[in-house]
Amino acid sequence: MSRSGASSPRSSNPLRDARDRRLNRIAGPSSLVLFGVTGDLARKKLMPAIYDLANRGLLPPSFGLVGFGRRDWSDDEFVAEVKESVTQYARTPFNDAVWEQLSAGIRFVQGTFDDDEAFGALQECLEELDRDRGTRGNHAFYLSIPPDAFEAVCQKLSEHGLAQPDDGQWRRVVIEKPFGHDLESAQELNRIVEEVFPPDAVFRIDHYLGKETVQNILALRFANQLFEPLWNANHVDHVQITMAEDIGIGSRAGYYDGVGAARDVIQNHLLQLLALTAMEEPISFDAEHLRTEKEKVLAAVQLPDDLAGRSARGQYGSGWQGGEHVNGFLEEDGIPADSVTESFAALRLDIHTRRWSGVPFYLRTGKRLGRRVTEIAVVFKRAPNLLFREHDEAAFGQNAVVIRVQPDEGVTIRFGSKVPGTQTEVRDVTMDFGYGHSFTESSPEAYERLILDVLLGEPPLFPRQQEVELSWQILDPFEKYWQSLDGQPETYEPGSWGPASADELLAADGRTWRRP
Ligand SMILES: NC(=O)c1ccc[n+]([C@@H]2O[C@H](COP(=O)([O-])OP(=O)(O)OC[C@H]3O[C@@H](n4cnc5c(N)ncnc54)[C@H](OP(=O)(O)O)[C@@H]3O)[C@@H](O)[C@H]2O)c1
Repeated sequence: MSRSGASSPRSSNPLRDARDRRLNRIAGPSSLVLFGVTGDLARKKLMPAIYDLANRGLLPPSFGLVGFGRRDWSDDEFVAEVKESVTQYARTPFNDAVWEQLSAGIRFVQGTFDDDEAFGALQECLEELDRDRGTRGNHAFYLSIPPDAFEAVCQKLSEHGLAQPDDGQWRRVVIEKPFGHDLESAQELNRIVEEVFPPDAVFRIDHYLGKETVQNILALRFANQLFEPLWNANHVDHVQITMAEDIGIGSRAGYYDGVGAARDVIQNHLLQLLALTAMEEPISFDAEHLRTEKEKVLAAVQLPDDLAGRSARGQYGSGWQGGEHVNGFLEEDGIPADSVTESFAALRLDIHTRRWSGVPFYLRTGKRLGRRVTEIAVVFKRAPNLLFREHDEAAFGQNAVVIRVQPDEGVTIRFGSKVPGTQTEVRDVTMDFGYGHSFTESSPEAYERLILDVLLGEPPLFPRQQEVELSWQILDPFEKYWQSLDGQPETYEPGSWGPASADELLAADGRTWRRP
């Protein structure tokens, strides 16, 4: 067995066949140690997801949850904290019997990240869980903490023998984005983590990959015959990938300033969506095969030496949005008045492969935009011979397949149809698939899927270091280019779709952004 013990008897196929799907994938005896229990992510997403997994019968009866933090909490006080977060944020209804079983395995260890005594107490706590709850030495360490604390925690875990499993056991570490600030810092971060944990024990969470709609990109493309023959430069004109938020930065100024929209979202979520949309069919959905195909696409993104005209960036100004007057980015609490951090970024990327040569991929993300929406729009070329010459370009656009990642999850196909009447007028119509209409069960939260996969040791949905580095190699030149520009990013109206330069980016290619 490998040091990490990433040995699941099950296949690591993220798209299970119908027969397999009926067999629940239940985690084996194990415990999860959560660093950063008082943080937003732990309270709103992680602890509720753990409860939802328990409620769905996917955690073993012998599961342990250990919180590690600097609050002066007893086990009982921590249990009460977890209960509050579960009742407030869990997806599934509260069930007393499930809670009783889960809460019996909840412990709290108080301490800071450089505190040997606290890590000694953590070791004892895990030994007690192994002994009394039967967690069998299988432990996952979830670092829901700022990346500058990873080194201290990994070192202490190692010094206290917590990162090294005995035979037949496993130890895993889960890290959250951001995976560095640029290529160099990503490599340094990786060095720190992999000094203690072997590569197959490191689970990097990009929670977008845990979303059903994102996994459905693979089903849409590779389980059907309808789309794949058209999914190439012969038929596709361009691809637009959008992640828009209608809110501002809220209380995240401390994190966001100096990071910005491109590092926060494009480096991870949007480049993952690009890779899944553009990759070749993997020979299986095993982690190795899936990751290799994604990496090939990212490696094939080649940038011109001169990046002028290849990107746009902006900062939201103050104004009215949704009937409310909102602050501009530079007026937000904690943002310096001369900050050059962007709250909107758009890029044009070209993938130099036979399949995609000449097909631009446009990526955009921003805050305080018109709507909260994430989608991938594959826009097709016009028919080579259009008999309907009199068509109105505004009413009859280009055919498109739009994968709606969130909200209103589903897929839309847009095509032209004859308008009823005696004329030969053609207009766009849409065919919609919505998860809510086609399936009765609600989709699990991304974190439910990902935490379960960590406990099962199934890595396909977790990017490996190579993907992280390739993504920074794409983004770093844009960051350098932006730094070389004088002055602030362009201001855009709250509730709009970004700065004028974003429209110009596409207009230069004779195209326009979709208004989702
Ligand atoms: N929030 C999200 O939706 C989201 C999304 C993606 C990625 N992430 C990443 O996930 C991680 C957690 O995010 P978050 O939003 O939960 O952050 P957060 O609200 O700032 O929480 C950070 C946690 O780390 C603890 N912490 C920080 N420094 C510490 C120290 N020196 N010693 C002990 N504990 C320390 C804090 O404990 P105290 O309460 O004691 O300060 C708190 O529990 C971050 O790396 C973030 O970048 C978050």
